[in-house]
Amino acid sequence: MDGKYYLTIPIFYPNARLHMGHAYTTTVGDVIARFHRKDGNEVYFLAGSDENTEKMVRAAKKEGKEVKAYLDEIAHSFVALYDRLGISYDQFIRTSDEVVHWPGVREVWQRLVDAGYIEKRTYTGLYCVGHEAFMTEKDLVDGRCPDHDEAPQELSEENYFFLLSRHTETLKEKIQSGELDIVPAARKNEVLALLESGLEDISFSRPKEKMTVGVPVPGDDSQRVYVWGDALVNYISALGFGTDNDALYKKFWPADVHIVGKDIIRFHAVIWPAMLLSAGIPLPKKILAHGFLTSGGRKMSKTLGNVIDPVELLDGYGAEALRYYLLRYAYSFEDRDITKEHFHAAYNADLANGIGNLTSRIMKMATSYLNEGVSVAAGAYDASFEDAMREFRFSEAMDIVWGMVAELDDRIQKEQPFKVVKEDAQKAEQMVTELVKKLHVIAYHLEVLLPETSRVIKESVENHVMPESLFKRIDE
Ligand code: MSP
Repeated sequence: MDGKYYLTIPIFYPNARLHMGHAYTTTVGDVIARFHRKDGNEVYFLAGSDENTEKMVRAAKKEGKEVKAYLDEIAHSFVALYDRLGISYDQFIRTSDEVVHWPGVREVWQRLVDAGYIEKRTYTGLYCVGHEAFMTEKDLVDGRCPDHDEAPQELSEENYFFLLSRHTETLKEKIQSGELDIVPAARKNEVLALLESGLEDISFSRPKEKMTVGVPVPGDDSQRVYVWGDALVNYISALGFGTDNDALYKKFWPADVHIVGKDIIRFHAVIWPAMLLSAGIPLPKKILAHGFLTSGGRKMSKTLGNVIDPVELLDGYGAEALRYYLLRYAYSFEDRDITKEHFHAAYNADLANGIGNLTSRIMKMATSYLNEGVSVAAGAYDASFEDAMREFRFSEAMDIVWGMVAELDDRIQKEQPFKVVKEDAQKAEQMVTELVKKLHVIAYHLEVLLPETSRVIKESVENHVMPESLFKRIDE
């Protein structure tokens, strides 16, 4: 660790409100940011929105809104959701921002041109509107895009191409050696297999008539920089790359980790590093790809209409409950199916009857039996918890903490300090003192996972008072 840590989450498309899948990635980013801050690093955590897309223009039209007003409203809703979830991001970049984002895109483009990696070609292909990308036959199932359940349209046009294929061998080497690390190993192997099968050059621009928003191609006003040539650059443009104001870039690049869902691993592990190699910019150190949330067995997506709205859960159960559920039951390198019913059951079992009840039981005894507060030791992590956190196994980290919760519940059950106190007050005091210390250890472990819950428990222990209410039982 060199004292600084730069992490990013995907910039989301603003063609609809965010759903649980987005809240999930964002919460994971927040936990990583908090963990490294607590470790003593200077952390920079970037979030944002991917605004230069035709599907956003279509969404604005559908709602009868001006593009700018529409974008402002959605970006505002993203930030409002992050604030409610307690996301400790440092910057929110919007790719429609001509001052912050566009100079970086132009600079990267120019470097690709200068290094001979951009070429004009005619392209004919199958274009999926949902993906905003050309697809190949092998991406399709029964002639349809499996993610969007739509048949792609055949399209032919003049584009500038990025000569991605030239980097195949170098990328293979960097990924194999771990210089560019991909977590988990299964995804790394997938990317290596993809490189093994060979890369095709990709379209990096579209004619202005087809793409009405976005950065004009430097030196050719008839085209605009298209999707990945534009969006991926946010990770450095946000830091001032391509401008005189690039102190953050100099300080924080290369990124320590790009967090992505497995749907966009290819773009982050292949196209982005290839762009950076061509432009003479250092590669990010790591890409973390998590699995998908599914609902009814299919990827949760606004296109498929099977989304769970995080705002509804926030309203009903609060931010800490949502963070808890996402980290323990949604988080995985593989896919996981979630339902509102399971969320509700987990809330009552693990939070209301679990940590909420435990905290109030222990603090009730502490404030009744002990004349003064328990002095608590400086915190330290359980070794397997720390390993899980460093290796991005957050669901396991949560299991470990809830193991501690169960252990304290058992201990109270077995020792019964509330009975002992009637015969041997001193012994009961010792028992409760131990319980309070262990409760404080739980709070220490929860600091970066459930920051509010951790604060409430710590303040209760340290001030020797009953806790503010934590996770009231909710009956349906
Ligand atoms: N705009 C691009 C990303 C550009 S990054 C330079 C994009 N946006 S998106 O709005 O579609 O968001 C995709 C990301 O949202 C996924 O990579 C993932 O992080 C998150 N998720 C969206 N749906 C998800 C699930 N159903 N499950 C888990 N995460 C999901 O792609």
